[in-house]
Formats: sequence, structure tokens, C-alpha cells
Amino acid sequence: MTKLWGGRFTKTAEAWVDEFGASIGFDQQLVEEDIEGSLAHVTMLEKSGILANEEVEQIKKGLHILLEKAKKGELNYSVANEDIHLNIEKLLIDEIGPVGGKLHTGRSRNDQVATDMHLYLRKQTKEILQLVKNVQAALVEQAKQHVETLIPGYTHLQRAQPISFAHHLLAYFWMLERDYGRYEDSLKRLNVSPLGAGALAGTTFPIDREYTAELLGFDGIYENSLDAVSDRDFIVEFLSASSLLMTHLSRLCEELILWSSQEFQFVEMDDAFATGSSIMPQKKNPDMAELIRGKTGRVYGSLFSLLTVLKGLPLAYNKDMQEDKEGMFDAVKTVKGSLAIFAGMIQTMKVKEETMTKAVHQDFSNATELADYLATKGMPFREAHEVVGKLVLLCIEKGIYLLDLPLSDYKAASDLFDEDIYDVLQPKTVVARRTSAGGTGFTEVKKAIAKAEKILAN
Ligand code: ARG
Repeated sequence: MTKLWGGRFTKTAEAWVDEFGASIGFDQQLVEEDIEGSLAHVTMLEKSGILANEEVEQIKKGLHILLEKAKKGELNYSVANEDIHLNIEKLLIDEIGPVGGKLHTGRSRNDQVATDMHLYLRKQTKEILQLVKNVQAALVEQAKQHVETLIPGYTHLQRAQPISFAHHLLAYFWMLERDYGRYEDSLKRLNVSPLGAGALAGTTFPIDREYTAELLGFDGIYENSLDAVSDRDFIVEFLSASSLLMTHLSRLCEELILWSSQEFQFVEMDDAFATGSSIMPQKKNPDMAELIRGKTGRVYGSLFSLLTVLKGLPLAYNKDMQEDKEGMFDAVKTVKGSLAIFAGMIQTMKVKEETMTKAVHQDFSNATELADYLATKGMPFREAHEVVGKLVLLCIEKGIYLLDLPLSDYKAASDLFDEDIYDVLQPKTVVARRTSAGGTGFTEVKKAIAKAEKILAN
């Protein structure tokens, strides 16, 4: 089979070499963007008087036929035609004859592939933004149900201070809000047109880059033709934003997995997002949470892979850059899948309030309260810390908790203690009183929910 670029070759590569070099196996995912870019290009060629009206009409008609076929999965691609760009060009020529060969006037595959990738990632990023919002909405919904549900807050995975469960969930809302911001921000740099940069140096044809940029909905054009065809930082940014997003999802997955365990029993995943064991009939595994945690690694991998591809490349296009695609496609699929599953998981999970309540009553996470109590009454905090530490030790010896310790023991430790400590020590009181901005106090949590809802409504 002769190549579209075969003129200066006397011998054709063997099939297995073609196979190694070809990207059609994966870049066929760009087919709609490729045709969209070609339609804009050819429209511009006519407007600029580079091609005749009848030629452009034929090419457009052919491209529309191919687009319809592509949507129905009816296009037959061949490895011999390397990539999506040459495949479409070849299919166009088959469809409408030699005039199809005029499409590539004033263009190179180098600006073409860059254009396709920009269009693709713009579309995907917008879809991902919506999916992030859906997860945020699911978190807020659960949070609203659990403002007054208490769980132990942890540091070092040791019970530290009781908190509102809503407050814990909302921590992830805000992480995702920054992820949202990163994706949104990346669109500013992404939405720029490389089309018309040619192979690397521009073209002698009187093309109109601003016009194709406008047709394709870009905000402007790359200022430098070398940069336009060599830049892949828009993909690095996408992978980087995605890596952070996956980090956040993975952390919550880890918590959901812990919380689903027999040891915690704080939540139960809905049957739809869990699986059983093939051998142990009693088991219910939080598989989807584990899988998202596990898939995080492949997104990091794609980020590192692309950074490594780029770091030693001289300007302008190098074939190495074909390696930008699979990682990007994989990350898009992983991120979209993870977000969709995540929203469902959060919406449907059962929160076991009783075990959570039990957990905050059977620990010493209210000890800080006692120290603060003494400090408020004038004792230096460091001394108060010591006094309470001794009381905790006393409780441990007696096998009880601070709320069970008789007032006489408190009085013996410090005469600043009074009857009201039993109220101060109640986990509900402990949480309610943390009203500093951004704290877990119920009033603060309610404010945070209102803020979050306002953000989601935008
Ligand atoms: N398949 C190629 C890629 O993905 C398209 C660009 C090819 N350009 C070239 N000069 N060989 O990078």
C-alpha cells in the first residue's frame, strides 16, 4: 500500500514496523475533533481564496459523510495510514476523489494533531468539571443530613477531638473546589489555537488563523508557530490537575474503606458499590473505593510519563510526542469513571450514627476541653495540660472515661473544677463550642453548607 507521503521513498516498511509507529489504534478517539478541525480549515481556505468554492463544497460534503459514518462506527481505519489524520484524508479521497487531496493545503499534521488534542481536552475538561460538581453536591447532601452526627476526629489515626461528620465530609468539598478551580483555570491556557502553525514555521499560503480560531471556539491563537506545534503543557496541566483530584478521591476512599471495616463500622457502602467474596460468604468488600484508590497510580504514571517524554525534546515536533496520547486518554477515562462512581457511592452510603456516637463517648477526645476549662479559669495552659493528663491516667486505671469520674476526684486534682464540667465534657457541647471560623461548631458547619450550596448553584 502506498503512503500518502511515499514520494521520496523507494521501499516500504514491513507491516510490523508500521504497526509499531502507528497511532491509529488509539488516536481514532480524536476522529470527531479531527473532522471538526478540517471543516474549519477548509472553510478558511475558501474565505482566503486559497481553494475554490466548488472544491470546498465537495470537501465539506465528504467530511460530513465521514463524520456521520464515524459516529456510527462505520469507518474502516488502516494501520498503513498511521494515524487518524492520514486515515481521514485517505478516506476523504476515496469518498470524493482527488480533490480531497486539497484539504491539507497550508496545514501540517503537526498543527493538526495539536488542534485535535486541544479540542478534545477542552471538551473532556468541561465534562469533568460537571462530574466534579456532582460529587461535591453528593457530599453536601450527606453533610446536610449529618450536621449533628458526631465522629471522632483523628490525628495520627488516634482519636483526637470529636467533630461533626458533616464537617469531615465538607473538608472534601473544599478540596474538590480547588480541583474544580484548577481545571477551570487550565481552560484559559488550553483554549488557544495552534492551527495554522504549519509543520513548524508557518506557511506561505495567505491563511487566516484568527478565523479558524474563531470557528473552533478558541479564544485566540498561539503567538509562535514553533511553540504551537511543540507545546504539550496543556496536557501536563490536565494530568497534574487530575493527579491532585485523584489524590483527594483516594484519601476519601481510604477513609471509606476504613470506616466500612468491622473495626470502625461507621458507614456501609450500598450493595451497588460493593462486592462479595467468592469463598467467604460473610464478606462485603468496598471494592469501588479500593479500585479508585488503586487507579490513582495510573494517573500519576501518565503525568510522569509525559513530563519525561518532553524534558529532553528539541524544538519542534518529534515523534516522541505521539506518546502524549494514551496516557491522556487513560487519565480522562479514569477520572471520569472515578468521579461518576464516587458520586453514587457518597449518595447511597449508609451512615451508622449509633457506632459513631458510641465512638465519641468511649474515648478521651474531650480531654482538651478540660484543659481549656482550667486555662479559662486562669491556670497556665501548660499546667492545665499536666493536670488533665493525670486525670486521664486515673480514668485508665479505673477503666472509666472522663464523664464517669466523680467530682471529688476532679476537686482533688484542682479546686478550679466545678459541677459544670460534666456539661463541658459532653461531646455535643465540645463540638458546638468550636465556633471559630472554619471550625466544627454546628453554627460554623451550617454556614459552610450554605456557602457550599451557593457555590454549587453558580
Ligand atoms: N500521529 C502523530 C502524533 O500523534 C501525528 C503527527 C505526526 N507528525 C509527523 N510529523 N510525523 O504525534
